[in-house]
Amino acid sequence: MYLLIPAAGSGRRMDSEWLRQGTAQRNKLLLNLLGKPLLAWTLLAAEASSHISWIGIIGQPIDWDDFTTIVTQLSFTKPIHLIEGGSTRQESVYNGLQALPPDAKHVLIHDGARCLATPELFDRCAQAVLTCAGLIAAIPVKDTIKVVDQEKLIKSTPDRSQLWAAQTPQGFSVPLLKKCHQEGRRQGWEVTDDAALFEQCHLPVLIVEGEETNLKVTTPVDLAIAEFILTQRLNRAV
Ligand code: CTP
Ligand code: MG
Repeated sequence: MYLLIPAAGSGRRMDSEWLRQGTAQRNKLLLNLLGKPLLAWTLLAAEASSHISWIGIIGQPIDWDDFTTIVTQLSFTKPIHLIEGGSTRQESVYNGLQALPPDAKHVLIHDGARCLATPELFDRCAQAVLTCAGLIAAIPVKDTIKVVDQEKLIKSTPDRSQLWAAQTPQGFSVPLLKKCHQEGRRQGWEVTDDAALFEQCHLPVLIVEGEETNLKVTTPVDLAIAEFILTQRLNRAV
């Protein structure tokens, strides 16, 4: 199974002094999490998955030296490719799809920032995508969600039993996802995940049970929570 890891963002919402070092804002995936860069944890889970056999890391050239160091230090057994990202996640994934080998039938896409996804979740998604055109990991929403207008007035309260929080991995048929990305570019659709492109093209996307701990490290508090969860995990393993 082919895996693409979007890792070409800059972490604007992370608001970290360390990220602002020097002239350019550094990638939040290089932040230290229990002695390793955040991206290393994501890669370790992919390496441990029995179904993933090819990994493409989509990054900005400014980060390539650091990414190469991470990969070298972890001594991976799986082939890892560096692919140049774009200015949005959508563009980055588009570039990733172009870099897949021509025989790739299915692909999983997993955000580098979701560094707590387990190898079991990768395997569950990799197995399920063989029998459907598109899927995403997701969990039922715990909060009551409000739809709000620009004046911060509540417009409606969607029925919570129908709401799921989207995660990654997201898995797709490669030719179909390529078509959806092409259509998205033609129509100017701007989306934050790949399932949304499938939906816009009226293609079915299945839900696979995600993980409550599979959070996306977006703000400083997420980093603190991720550190806590990882510590618990590592302690239990000894
Ligand atoms: N991503 C990407 N290419 C971009 C933007 C984002 O590959 N041009 C990746 C990020 O590296 C991350 C994932 O998409 O792994 C999810 O994006 P997000 O959490 O929004 O990360 P950033 O865009 O880096 O953060 P922010 O939006 O706060 O700037
Ligand atoms: Mg972003």
